Amino acid sequence: MSVHSNNTEKVTTQTLRKMKTNGEIIASLTAYDAAFARVLDRAGCDFILVGDSVGMVVQGQSTTIPVTVDDIIYHTRLVARGATRALIMADMPFMSYHSPADCLHNAARLMKEGGAEMVKLEWGALQLDMVARLTECGIPVCAHLGLTPQAIHKLGAYRVQGREQETAAKMLHDARALEAAGADMLLLECVPMGLAEQITRAATVPVIGIGAGPDVDGQILVLYDILDIAPGKRTRFSKNYMTGVDSIHAAIESYVVEVKSKTFPTAAYAFQ
Ligand code: KIV
Repeated sequence: MSVHSNNTEKVTTQTLRKMKTNGEIIASLTAYDAAFARVLDRAGCDFILVGDSVGMVVQGQSTTIPVTVDDIIYHTRLVARGATRALIMADMPFMSYHSPADCLHNAARLMKEGGAEMVKLEWGALQLDMVARLTECGIPVCAHLGLTPQAIHKLGAYRVQGREQETAAKMLHDARALEAAGADMLLLECVPMGLAEQITRAATVPVIGIGAGPDVDGQILVLYDILDIAPGKRTRFSKNYMTGVDSIHAAIESYVVEVKSKTFPTAAYAFQ
């Protein structure tokens, strides 16, 4: 499978929906600057997330909590300069969407000042009426469910979410409600693979997984994890793509090929 497809058509929310309908797997990574965005774009990433993981992997913080709206705007602007085909998604940082007024104001800043084409918010702080309002305003929304790192001090640890019957049923219910409110995409982090598959089958919008197993519509990982330069211990669901290759380009291309061919992730990278 070649990663340098001739398809240079700009990816939109409609493209991603069509990919789900056609059973074409969506590949994505995080990026924080123009140089890497260019490499991801050429390698065939369908969307690029300017994640608040920037706080941990670039800024050296121990959590994502200190990341500001201005930080994300700055990095989104850099990424938007490097990518021509991939859709650009930007994370809304901790406490930037706790009230409807702040939510709209900050989402608009990410789009107008940063060049974001979709915003991602963590379910928990996010409310359904905010999703509906953003949607009314023409702002595409990705709702992040499962492990929500901005709630780390409430959760106590970065661990799998939705293992119990009750929490699994609630996540499925929340996913349906978010789609009904207008969410264009759902992102599941650290969710048992069976539950992720159930949510993916129930949703008509694309469901992207990170530590959610193979049976979703697409995959995302943190770029610095697959390049083996993230601080700390690598998460169980991530893979070092630098093994056996001689360049960063080759590592990223190999990730995209494996995701699109459903070679990655196997059950060994997933949770039961
Ligand atoms: O900030 C980030 O990089 C993310 C990914 C873990 C999906 O939200």
